Amino acid sequence: MEQTEVVKPQTLDDLIKILHAIFEGDCVNVEQVQTIMESYESKPQEWMKYAKFDQYRYTRNLVDEGNGKFNLMILCWGEGHGSSIHDHTDSHCFMKLLQGQLKETLFDWPESHGDMVQKSQRILQENRVAYINDTIGLHRVENVSHTETAVSLHLYSPPFQSCQTFDQRTGHKNTVKMTFCSKYGERTPFEAIISQENN
Ligand SMILES: [Fe+2]
Repeated sequence: MEQTEVVKPQTLDDLIKILHAIFEGDCVNVEQVQTIMESYESKPQEWMKYAKFDQYRYTRNLVDEGNGKFNLMILCWGEGHGSSIHDHTDSHCFMKLLQGQLKETLFDWPESHGDMVQKSQRILQENRVAYINDTIGLHRVENVSHTETAVSLHLYSPPFQSCQTFDQRTGHKNTVKMTFCSKYGERTPFEAIISQENN
């Protein structure tokens, strides 16, 4: 993989091609994926067709299925939109800011009944890439701005269709099936969008 380590993706399509090459093998080099995703400079005209906003909640929009090795998707966050506290179903999760800013709050897994422990908080800036998995902990992601939307590019490997969400006050968890607002730039038929989405 030495070749792909030094390549800087010029476009989103270019980034997708490089990611396909990186994920051909069976093990994931977290730093390498993070570096490649970070080196892509977000250009709205390249991802605009995937960015479908909703008035009430953030949306998930499938960009690429990564030959079954990963899912690449664009999440669109309206002003004040946020996720639940959630896990990542034993997958790797990379999150790159394409536009705007997002606040990430990290939590420990709940040990007993009661308030969940907040570990840290940070603001993710445009073009930066955050990484999380279940051994690091749980997180909540929010667009805290009341004037700006945010758009993020997420890579999950292996792909997963459901995750667990947690109640901050009690630590109680729920399994939630996740759906897409659009796939490859096309709106998902309305009846397919029924459940809450949380990653
Ligand atoms: Fe997440």
